[in-house]
Amino acid sequence: MKILKSPKEAHEYRKTLNGSVGFVPTMGALHEGHLTLIKRAKSENENVIVSIFVNPTQFLPGEDLDKYPRRLEADFEICKRAGVDAVFTPNAENMYSEDEILIKAPKIKGYILEGFFRPGHFDGVLQVVNKLFNIIKPTRAYFGKKDAQQLYLINQMVKNFFFDIKIVPVDTVREKDGLALSSRNVYLSPEERKRALSISKALKRAAKLSTVTDNIDEIKKEMMNILDVDKLQYIAFVDRNFNYINKIKHGDTIILIAAYIGTTRLIDNIWI
Ligand code: PAJ
Repeated sequence: MKILKSPKEAHEYRKTLNGSVGFVPTMGALHEGHLTLIKRAKSENENVIVSIFVNPTQFLPGEDLDKYPRRLEADFEICKRAGVDAVFTPNAENMYSEDEILIKAPKIKGYILEGFFRPGHFDGVLQVVNKLFNIIKPTRAYFGKKDAQQLYLINQMVKNFFFDIKIVPVDTVREKDGLALSSRNVYLSPEERKRALSISKALKRAAKLSTVTDNIDEIKKEMMNILDVDKLQYIAFVDRNFNYINKIKHGDTIILIAAYIGTTRLIDNIWI
């Protein structure tokens, strides 16, 4: 497995590849969720490249950039075992220069929900994914539905900037008890982890309730009863294009939650 440390090395490597390239962008601390994306990429492409880069521009001041888990050697091992052909691990110095041309997330969809509570976060995500797409030039790129708004915005960017890349959405991978896998779960104490479960439970209950009622207020009330979080940032009901809705529409609804458990911010969602 090749380790590519700079955009230049990656460009050179890319030129040697024949056939389709599946790309899985990550920030590392790889877990079963990431691995599912990698396996899917492996099954659909002749070559698979994973990037591992804790992108500073998508963290807001005061967020967990410094303490974000970094486990490069273990991540390499996971990638190697999964049959990844190359891992791209650049650093901030070779990815960014001073006074750059910037990409802005759309004014509405980039600044609601995650974008409201983390203003500018998606500017950073789109900026780095734009760079990564230009460096890797993938045939297909794999993104988790766990980060539903990110997935939506990446699809928008591909459309708006005419990238010739197929974005492949992948279902959220969960622990047996329902907790959505996340690199940030390592921050949770055992007691917090128990309460974090209330998030997936509330979503599951909402999905079940939505089979008997399309009334969002009713569903939301029930979700509030289940949630055992320290600070709820939002429960939201949107369609697949992230327009707010006021009635459940099966096949075109996403219910999303963002909440703090202790000092850990978690997000989760369910597609119904
Ligand atoms: P990261 O949080 O490392 O996630 C990398 C990819 O794995 C994303 O597409 C994310 O949605 C997916 N993923 C995370 N947890 C998952 C789970 N439980 N089930 C399925 N997929 C899951 O998202 C980012 O990194 C960054 O914003 C990035 C796109 C790499 C840009 O820096």
